[in-house]
Amino acid sequence: MNPNSTLKDLLWNGSISMRFVLSQDEARNFVDCDYYRQEYRGYDSAGLAVDGDGLLSNVGEPYQPRSVSIFQQVGKVKLLKEHIASQNINTEAIFESHAGIAHTRWATHGQPKTVNCHPQRSDSNNEFTVVHNGIITNYREIKAFLESKGFKFESETDTEAIAKLTKYIYDSNIKEHGYDRKPDFSELAKLVIKELEGAYGLLIKSVHYPDELVATRKGSPLLIGVKTEKKLKVDFVDVEFVDAESEQNTGSLLAPQGTSSGPSLTVPGNTLQDHLRHSQSRAFLSEDNTPRPIEFFLASDPAAVVEHTRKVLFLEDDDIAHIYDGELHIHRVRRDVNEPGTRAIETLELELQQIMKGKFTHFMQKEIFEQPESVINTMRGRVDFENGTVQLGGLRSWLTTIRRCRRIIMIACGTSYHSCLATRSIFEELTEIPVSVELASDFLDRRSPVFRDDTCVFVSQSGETADTIMALQYCLERGALTVGIVNSVGSSISRQTHCGVHINAGPEIGVASTKAYTSQYIALVMVALSLSDDRVSQLQRRKEIIHGLSNISEQIAEVLKLDDHIRDLCEKDLLRHKSLLLLGRGYQFATALEGALKIKEISYMHSEGVLAGELKHGVLALVDENLPIIVMATRDSLFPKVMSAIEQVTARSGNPIIICNPGTSLADGLQRLEVPQSVDCLQGLLNVIPLQLMSYWLAIKHGHDVDFPRNLAKSVTVE
Ligand code: UD1
Ligand code: F6R
Repeated sequence: MNPNSTLKDLLWNGSISMRFVLSQDEARNFVDCDYYRQEYRGYDSAGLAVDGDGLLSNVGEPYQPRSVSIFQQVGKVKLLKEHIASQNINTEAIFESHAGIAHTRWATHGQPKTVNCHPQRSDSNNEFTVVHNGIITNYREIKAFLESKGFKFESETDTEAIAKLTKYIYDSNIKEHGYDRKPDFSELAKLVIKELEGAYGLLIKSVHYPDELVATRKGSPLLIGVKTEKKLKVDFVDVEFVDAESEQNTGSLLAPQGTSSGPSLTVPGNTLQDHLRHSQSRAFLSEDNTPRPIEFFLASDPAAVVEHTRKVLFLEDDDIAHIYDGELHIHRVRRDVNEPGTRAIETLELELQQIMKGKFTHFMQKEIFEQPESVINTMRGRVDFENGTVQLGGLRSWLTTIRRCRRIIMIACGTSYHSCLATRSIFEELTEIPVSVELASDFLDRRSPVFRDDTCVFVSQSGETADTIMALQYCLERGALTVGIVNSVGSSISRQTHCGVHINAGPEIGVASTKAYTSQYIALVMVALSLSDDRVSQLQRRKEIIHGLSNISEQIAEVLKLDDHIRDLCEKDLLRHKSLLLLGRGYQFATALEGALKIKEISYMHSEGVLAGELKHGVLALVDENLPIIVMATRDSLFPKVMSAIEQVTARSGNPIIICNPGTSLADGLQRLEVPQSVDCLQGLLNVIPLQLMSYWLAIKHGHDVDFPRNLAKSVTVE
């Protein structure tokens, strides 16, 4: 029990429950983990820490700290649930107020094993427990410091350093000022994060602060769902700024000796807790200004909270959220010039059924078949097919600036990078602005020069890919105009870019990106069309493309009819092979690369996308009667050259499968997959579909978990 709170009595009597959930890649109920809303995001282990019903007596505190139990398990949440059930613990105990933290981990520091699961802890009493997304880049220094103070580390994680550092700072303060000056939990967190470098979305729980929780973020998403029976009084939370007084004497712990005054708090007058708890969050009070029953859900993704509440608040970098006594307080160290002083409580529009599988066996399959609709959603309200115009609300006031830029740099990773490659040529053709396409990691490794008159376009499904975010920050620092092409509204990239286009493809749950690719592709084409709408010379070409877009949904539906045929082809011809080549040139090179990535990613079969023109420069040596080869030979200006590549292959006894338009004449005996014809620059939208289906069926026939391919996560939030 927390002796400082008179409100606690009310909470006791009011049968209030407070729940906190955070995960690295997912969040859900703790203990009764019945819901798997974010199961999709790819993880290899799970764990949770929750208030126990016992009291801790051996931590020397005058108060009675309540025990915290930790459960950790390698594998899926289902296994964690089984593990908890086997522990013979009392799950029936009733708490007036209850806090827990949960996490799924995708291994970065250390193998997926129990000791590395989150929550990580400070000591064997679980005095401080932590779940964390992101990477602490200076954890080695912190660890060395703490080891010199006698701490023994149990795991290989960077996160354990946070838990132990918190205990060290807490103990030091108690030693110096006694329990009377016990630091407020959010103040303690502030001292901790001052020592951290890197990225984090962080939750800390402690036996010393039962029923309380602190959450903070830097470069990693974190949101708070708020559930109340009655409407909130106001739809924002005030940000509380720490007084200058309590800022004194808080030098860095890791600073060289003599330059730091240590992690100490000096608080004039009363205890720090009294000092800070003077303000109340207006949103959470009832009409008579008393607190009321409330649940808080903390998560890294809105999909995790949507089943509980649609009211959410997105934390900003360096916010410290402190939840206690049925209230949420948001603290910041200092007020910046542009700091609004409040955080809005927004209403999520995400529909729960949007993230369910429907009639399909896998999310990936559902998403492949959703493409006739998702491409329409991308164009909805933006392309006027009758008048042949494109209006992108998010770019409207930026078009003139973009048109004036010296060059466009498209920056992305993986599939999103392929969508840039696929549209680069039409971008250059329509806008007459030079376009370069960059893999975010390589772009950063090279520290590529970026100038104020560059426009940098960041393409990302999740909007949270660490490499892409870092590239974005790099470009922002250099004064370039930044444009996002993003699926997740409210994601870091969407919020940090100057302007952009949401692709509106709906949540993509399968780890392998499919519908996001086709929607990114269309969004990029729409940007090129918008940028060129003042060019008379491009009138005809633009008309042709917009007409092509008007048919694309139906044509995708047509290609999807190849499903059964592709399933049989995979079973009979492709499954037994270890390797696969995909050939394309011009617009279809990107399709070959994207097809190869899909196949690698979920069927674990080696596959390579090869520029057909490069065949004779080396790759031809691989060709024989055994190696399966797929050639993109749809009709465009490069068609004759692709036919010559097919001949080079057949002359070496190769037996390629040809993706072509109806009516294409091919040598006898060659297998073909026919797709409708579109405009050259849109043809890739159709050609990629058979490859998506192929990767799906190869994975299924191999018995792989399509939605959770090994070693991969949906959102790659680490460098
Ligand atoms: C917006 C609304 C949409 C509404 C439509 C009505 C949002 C998210 N979208 O769509 O619900 O139906 O108006 O006219 O409220 N942005 C970035 N970076 C990105 C992506 C977007 O800065 O990576 C910015 C855009 O510049 C814009 C805002 O986010 O200011 C919304 O973008 P987008 O959803 O693409 O705009 P609309 O299509 O106009
Ligand atoms: C492949 C795939 C990845 C992502 C890449 C970038 O199917 O999903 O290659 O495309 O990790 O992710 P986003 O688009 O979220 O930035």
